[in-house]
Parts: sequence; structure tokens; C-alpha cells
Amino acid sequence: MKIMLVSDIHANLPALEAFSAYRTKNRLEGIPLYFLGDYVNLGPFPEETVNLLRSFSGEVYLAGNHDRYIINEHALDHNPYFGNHDGILHCRWTRDQLSPGSLEWLRNIPTRHQFELGAFHVDMVHGRHDSDEETLDAGRIDSKRKIVYACGHTHVPRNQGVGLAHIFNPGSLGKPLDRDNRASFGIVDVSGENASLEVVRIPYDIERTVRALEDREVPWRKGIINSLRTAIYTDEE
Ligand SMILES: [Fe+2]
Repeated sequence: MKIMLVSDIHANLPALEAFSAYRTKNRLEGIPLYFLGDYVNLGPFPEETVNLLRSFSGEVYLAGNHDRYIINEHALDHNPYFGNHDGILHCRWTRDQLSPGSLEWLRNIPTRHQFELGAFHVDMVHGRHDSDEETLDAGRIDSKRKIVYACGHTHVPRNQGVGLAHIFNPGSLGKPLDRDNRASFGIVDVSGENASLEVVRIPYDIERTVRALEDREVPWRKGIINSLRTAIYTDEE
């Protein structure tokens, strides 16, 4: 009994296209797909990314903090992450690229989703339950039940057993930050009483994304390009 988890695409269409091709080539279309948020911002293809995402019909999408910044202007007020004015310009650039239909789609996706997967309960959020800008704290989850807590946000894969529970972060598809610049996604496989949590890495055309950031003169692009290539967080952004 499998599901696939994809998080933090960040308007990186070549990464999402590489994932889609991998899924087709490996005949994985029958496995339910769950998205953990941050579809837009920090990449050059927000509208194209949302359009491709919406073509994965019938799948489950959660909102991330960057999706929230785009649909709510006030989310940027006093946000330390956007202390750099270029960050605010970047968010406005992203919003300007999105069609009314895509903005409406972003506005209507939930922040949490839960369901049963065999012997396990699955609890999905972008960051943690009380904040989309923080990550799950192993000391604050219910470790006495078989629960897979699925989350994104950090852009770093995490597979942590805590009592009977697991915390699983599949990493970032479009902007990994764990020094491996390949796109990252996850597969959860529940078999009997056990859950296996696998992170899959696939190469994609990073320089196509870089060229689009340059060609479209995306604000804040210097740091974004650097971190796409190195998979290291940079405060040049
Ligand atoms: Fe993110």
C-alpha cells in the first residue's frame, strides 16, 4: 500500500516535468500522489507549475507558507524572511505571473490532511500543525500511535522514528537544500504493521530553470540560482 509525497516545488517547472516523466516511465501513475505545499515563489515558472500540478487530477494538495505569502499581501508584513526588500519584490513578481484561476486555486487548498493507510494513520502538514514556518518537533508528536507525520518546508529529507510514529519529510522537488541538487520526493509503503519511507532523487535540467530566472529577470534571482546549483541555503536571497 503505497503513496507518493512531493513538497516544495517552488515554481520549478523542469523539476516537476522530470518528476512527471519519471512517474510515467516507472509506471507509478497508480500510486496516489500527495503534495505538501510551496508550489510557487523562488522559481521562474509559477503559472506553468500550477497548471501542470492541476493536471494531476484527483490528487491531494496542501498549502505552504510561500503559497500563503502570494495569496495574502499582509503575510509579508513584518516577516523576517522578507526583511530584504528584494524578497518582497520577488513575491509581487510571482503574484503578477499567476492567472486569476491559479490564484483562486491557491486560495482554496487546505493546510492539513489526514487519512488511514493500512495499519497507519497519516497526518500531513507543510511545516508543523501550529505554523507553516516551523518544522515538526519530535518531542511534541503522539509517539504512542502508528502515525506517519508527513511534512515539508525545510527542503531537507528527514526520516525519523519516534516510538510507534515516524516523521517523514520527502525533501524538496524544486529547491533542495541538502547539498544534493537533484529533485527529491518520497514514497511511503505500508506493509502489514510496518511502514518503509524512501526518498527518491532524480536529476533535472537545472540550467533551464536558471536561464528562465535570467530571461524573465526574476527579482532576488542571484541567491536563488546559487542555491539551485549548490543545494545550499544562501542568505544572498
Ligand atoms: Fe519551501
